[in-house]
Amino acid sequence: MKNADSRIDLSSQSNPINATSTNIAIEWHLDFDKRILTGSVTHTIVVAKSGTTTISFDSKDLQLEPQAFILSEKGGSSGVPVPITLSEVNVLGQKIGVPIPENLRSGGSEFRVKFIYNTSPDASAVQWLAPENTAGKQRPYVFTQCQAIHARSLLPCMDSPGAKVTYSAVVTCPDWCTILMSALQEGNKEVSADGVATFRYRQPVPTSTYLIALAGGRMTSKDVSSRVRIWAEPEVTDIAASEFSETEDFLKTAESLTCPYQWGRYDVLCLPPSFPYGGMENPCLTFATPTLLAGDKSLANVIAHEIAHSWTGNLVTNHTWEHFWLNEGWTVWLERKIMSRYKGDDNILKLSAQIGWKHLEDDVALFGADNGFTNLVWPLSGEDPDDAFSRVPYEKGFNLLMRLERLVGTENFEAFAKSYIAKFKFQTVTSEDFKCHFMSTFSSGEFAAAVDSIDWNEVFYSPGLPQVPDFSNPLSVECLKFADSWLAVEKGEDDCESTLGAMTISHWTTEQTNIFLEKLLKYAADTAPLSEDTLRKIDSAYNFTESGNSEVRFRWQSICLRSEALWIIPKVIDFVGSQGRMKFVRPLYRALRDLKQGDELAKETFNNLKSLYHPIARKMVAQDLKVSY
Ligand code: BES
Ligand code: ZN
Repeated sequence: MKNADSRIDLSSQSNPINATSTNIAIEWHLDFDKRILTGSVTHTIVVAKSGTTTISFDSKDLQLEPQAFILSEKGGSSGVPVPITLSEVNVLGQKIGVPIPENLRSGGSEFRVKFIYNTSPDASAVQWLAPENTAGKQRPYVFTQCQAIHARSLLPCMDSPGAKVTYSAVVTCPDWCTILMSALQEGNKEVSADGVATFRYRQPVPTSTYLIALAGGRMTSKDVSSRVRIWAEPEVTDIAASEFSETEDFLKTAESLTCPYQWGRYDVLCLPPSFPYGGMENPCLTFATPTLLAGDKSLANVIAHEIAHSWTGNLVTNHTWEHFWLNEGWTVWLERKIMSRYKGDDNILKLSAQIGWKHLEDDVALFGADNGFTNLVWPLSGEDPDDAFSRVPYEKGFNLLMRLERLVGTENFEAFAKSYIAKFKFQTVTSEDFKCHFMSTFSSGEFAAAVDSIDWNEVFYSPGLPQVPDFSNPLSVECLKFADSWLAVEKGEDDCESTLGAMTISHWTTEQTNIFLEKLLKYAADTAPLSEDTLRKIDSAYNFTESGNSEVRFRWQSICLRSEALWIIPKVIDFVGSQGRMKFVRPLYRALRDLKQGDELAKETFNNLKSLYHPIARKMVAQDLKVSY
């Protein structure tokens, strides 16, 4: 087996094995003018290995005071100043070294370390939005996105998922501003006579640092249930609250598949359009993109996905980013279980699985089928996990879990999922832990022979596509047939276009429309571009160009670009200029680039729009287009 020593995190320069942080006390002030957070963080440190002389932390682009303060019983209340050391800058940032005073080096000794610092305006975790880039256009806005290794640009910390901490925060800001964090609020907003507002938060459940999150701006909320509240800019709150009105029901369905929800509140914050992901499972407060606001709840599976992370990801966490599939593969599995249980139809899972398989094929093709980042377990060695990110851990992970489910039967596998969560909650896991728990559950008894034949080395470390699974289902048959009929028109094999144009697809779910569109996209990409004539006919029948559903819009624009239908370009520029979700903008920029003579157009468009994007999205699109950012 490779990665025998898989508990070492090569994406972090901290060393929690020697001295571990157990709690972080944050004090921040939000400075919207300078676009920085200023303040301090105080870590509670427990010496894990007797004789440890230095504590190491991660940092990236932080402006730190040259001295940290050691607060212990012996040091008085202001602490003992100690000089910190900073390593050279590399992809992982800079390692901070803090010397441990001699009298505190014995195993089990506990004290606090305080850093005074501010973030940089270019912190990769933080996006500061000018008023004109918000819905209300009145006030600035700020939000963070720490997964995978950006927390270190927000605060000095042991930025490794295995180093879970509780945290508390006291945050001040201008009085018009609301602060939300991935934690439970303590007390209410306090406003001082000179107009400074204070918010207090506490996260009592040990949490990996990538889940520390903050958003600040004009916000209002609407309650969906006693534990679910939807937040957004005031202009968007009602729309978001009705789009996400199923959240409490999803949460209950998730509990029936796992165990009681452990985080107290489940609030959702609908962010401004530059939020680079569909959703982010920040504990107590999921972040969501406004591109989910389709008007008909058809994209709410993303909320189900983030809810699922409350167990798979936030309670049971990947020990290092090499095992990211344990977060995302399990979460996709739970998401699809939630959606099909909630809708009472098993075909929902199969339909989404079919779409997922297509994403897996696409991303394997993009990386190349022999690329290590198409392994279930990533071979990371000090690069940024953002560079490895794709749908592979999601869908290859989901496929493995479905394969195992089919091996031992649904009932047994669902029971196994519960026992996996019960066994590993509040901890972090490696692929080896997963395998051992699976094998110890099933290797004696009726499934012994079947599970013994699993080649785990191949499962974890072979690149490319796994065996093609069977997710055929009646829901997709109709859409695939329909796509074939349109392709027959395209190929001139059929003259049924008038019947086709008259056929309505309004009863389809978004997933069904996606299956239809992806079939056309595959044809356009692999066989031949679709003719102008066919594209126009399809569009006049179904009006995809003007669709208010971001997933539909995205796929339709992709088909048109693949077919060199240049009239779509203004619509594409409009779309990549009105939101910054990487799932949409990265492929669309690549598709623009791949047009005949499209390279300049893609670069110029990016150059005009890049200031709207989150730092992570900016970096990734720039890499795709091979330009600086
Ligand atoms: N945790 C991820 C987002 C993420 C992954 C951020 C890696 C940074 C690094 C989140 O749960 C997610 O997977 N979102 C998906 C939702 C989809 C799979 C339903 C997204 O953003 O599209
Ligand atoms: Zn996820």
